Amino acid sequence: MGIRTSDRIAGIPHYEPGLTMAEVMAGYGLTSVVKLASNESPFPPLPEVAAVIDAGLAGLNRYPDGAARDLRDALAVCHGVGRSQVTVGNGSCEIIVHAGVALLDPGSTVVHADPSFAIYPHLAAGAGAVGIAVPLAPDGGHDLDAMAAAVDERTRLVIVCNPNNPTGVYRTADEIERFLGLIPDDLAVLVDEAYYDFVGEPDRGRVAVLARTRPNLLVTRTFSKAYGLCGLRVGYGIGSESWVDALEAVRQPFNTNHLAQIAALESLRHPAAIQARVDEAIAERDRMSAALREMGVPFTPSHGNFILMEPPDPGMDARVLHEALLRGGVIVRDGSALGCPGTLRVTIGAPSENDAFLAALGAVAGIHTHV
Ligand SMILES: Cc1ncc(COP(=O)(O)O)c(C=O)c1O
Repeated sequence: MGIRTSDRIAGIPHYEPGLTMAEVMAGYGLTSVVKLASNESPFPPLPEVAAVIDAGLAGLNRYPDGAARDLRDALAVCHGVGRSQVTVGNGSCEIIVHAGVALLDPGSTVVHADPSFAIYPHLAAGAGAVGIAVPLAPDGGHDLDAMAAAVDERTRLVIVCNPNNPTGVYRTADEIERFLGLIPDDLAVLVDEAYYDFVGEPDRGRVAVLARTRPNLLVTRTFSKAYGLCGLRVGYGIGSESWVDALEAVRQPFNTNHLAQIAALESLRHPAAIQARVDEAIAERDRMSAALREMGVPFTPSHGNFILMEPPDPGMDARVLHEALLRGGVIVRDGSALGCPGTLRVTIGAPSENDAFLAALGAVAGIHTHV
């Protein structure tokens, strides 16, 4: 016999995590694998950050600072706002979930793109609200006009994922600003910039500047990707005081753990080292893109630390290719788990990992690679 639950949760899709390295090694009898499936950083935390984490262990008998004052103050300085315009969370994912809890009611709607980050449909399901999933434009980016058209008086939240996961397509700050002009000024908009660091465009970061003064805008960022801290879970949001107040009302008191707070704070002290890692990821993304092009592999040019690609041969089933890569010791994400059947999403890893992927892909597809 089970337990009594809310009817609402029957509609909540379970988040499907990717395969772990241990699972793939055990399942395929391999002694090593390359994991390019979860858009993680190939770099461990900076040495200075690792040292701060080590030193912080001794204080774990105490609760963390529930208001995350030091980290929020540091982020406030970076973004030219006061602490009251900064929220931090157990990963930016938690802040996104908080937005659903704080803003949605049964009967209200949340507008987001599809396919996009897998967590967004959970928000509506969790609140008994209605999720309006607006198909992406043909280029794989948000169809902002269609999203604006999907807004009505019931809409409480619009989420824009920029660059979009899993396609990697970026909408410029001008395009986002124009979109903001199409919707009511009091409708909450969350721009999820988890992959902001990897954007190669000169206007990168301007939407967060808009969030300093726009009453309805919140921009979320994360320490999980460029900063290599996804295992610790820490992300943040910059927005209006009313946005941050709404999120603060629903967060649990000690949502961001002590090690995460001090590690994020220390990471902010080393912008040049982080940028060097980002530059390497972008250079590797360019190299991977060139190699895929040379192999005749269709893919969507990406502004993230990942690339969404199709099999080299249109007759090849993407799931068969996924399986063959696993057998070859390379874990990528099956696009069908991301709402993109017929594709694979490969994370940009270290040069040797990317070489392993290209070699395995070439071997499966019978293509000679020059890596
Ligand atoms: C678009 C997008 N937003 C948010 C997140 C969550 O990141 P975090 O680790 O900060 O919760 C991810 C993680 O992959 C993502 O792809």
